[in-house]
Amino acid sequence: MDFNLTEEHLMIRDAARDFARTELLPGVIERDDKQQFPQELVKKMGDLGFMGIMVDPKYGGSGMDAISYVLIMEELSKIDASASVMVSVNNSLVCYGLEAFGTEEQKQKYLTKLATGEQIGAFCLSEPEAGSDATSQRTTAIDMGDHYVINGTKNWITNGGRSDVYLVIAQTDREKGHRGINAFIVEKGMEGFDIGPKEDKLGIRGSDTHTLQFNDVKVPKENRIGEDGFGFKFAMKTLSGGRIGIAAQALGIASGAYELALKYSKERKAFGTEICNHQAIAFKLADMYTEIEAARMLVMKAAWDKDQGNNYDMSSAMAKLYASKVAMEQTVEAVQIHGGNGFVKEYHVERLMRDAKITQIYEGTSEIQKIVISRGVIKG
Ligand code: CAA
Repeated sequence: MDFNLTEEHLMIRDAARDFARTELLPGVIERDDKQQFPQELVKKMGDLGFMGIMVDPKYGGSGMDAISYVLIMEELSKIDASASVMVSVNNSLVCYGLEAFGTEEQKQKYLTKLATGEQIGAFCLSEPEAGSDATSQRTTAIDMGDHYVINGTKNWITNGGRSDVYLVIAQTDREKGHRGINAFIVEKGMEGFDIGPKEDKLGIRGSDTHTLQFNDVKVPKENRIGEDGFGFKFAMKTLSGGRIGIAAQALGIASGAYELALKYSKERKAFGTEICNHQAIAFKLADMYTEIEAARMLVMKAAWDKDQGNNYDMSSAMAKLYASKVAMEQTVEAVQIHGGNGFVKEYHVERLMRDAKITQIYEGTSEIQKIVISRGVIKG
């Protein structure tokens, strides 16, 4: 067993850290405030290879491993979780889904542009009546021979407004339950596909989240991913990897808040000394550091499982469950250590606290992770 990162991993981590500090930090408060994220920053992330981290270079990707992916995700998330969710969804839900299960034609047509960041993608599973209960898809995709016709509504879609490519899950044959669900590639601009207004959110406000409407959208048959009826398993397999990305995002939010709290506690004085010298604060720092290290171990283990070709359904669920809990709890502590300043935007920790909450909700709530873990434990 070796807990050390390789030279290459360290270089990748440092490149992401450098990018986050020099490019993402300036303007992060304004982007959060105005709910925007400029396209030129997405392009820069694409130029650095962050939009197709694990994709084979023959499709325009960076050909890195999952350990590199979580290192990049942690560094971006320390500064700007809105940037990192775009990276996570594009990498582990969209690019991975196409690379693992798409046809060669689909990879050539879509993946090559998504992996370089020339285009960006969205993953459309959630619906007004199908969030956690993902098999209850109301969106329909009727088989018309050479094409499908999609009707329905998708909710809370990350990258919903800015994407070019949308992976849409829909029910083709209700009688067959989850075996009647399919996944489709839908392009922005297809007739009948409308993007609703942007959601006004508590956190990750720079990322755009939208409701999508499908009104008789004709999708060619060659845009179905996998065999007829593979859509639900496609979503589940893809989400297992997505959960590693969100776990790494939660880890980054927690470690970013911790680093700010540690620095502040060494500068701020009260009762004649820096506040880190008071046990009330020192013990908080000890707990934060310990819990963040524990979360890091789970996140790395899940990424390692993926790199080794092991099943990672349970390790990704455990990593996300625990890292998101640590993110929520430790960002609250970071605000507390900052006192009144923690409540003010310019100190960054209040944003990290707001951003932390979504990591307990999207790509499967904490309760859903417990379903996955408990079923795995009982099955043995
Ligand atoms: N890999 C492969 N197959 C899987 C699987 C996996 N990880 N998990 C389940 N399956 C299969 C099962 O084996 C079963 O197939 P068979 O009947 O052939 O054996 C089938 O899928 C149905 O599984 P379940 O009976 O377990 O289904 P369920 O109704 O009990 O639901 C669930 C399981 C885990 C709760 C699932 O519904 C789930 O994950 N829900 C949460 C959905 C979610 O994560 N949504 C996030 C939205 S995406 C998002 O947030 C992106 C974003 O923008 C940031």
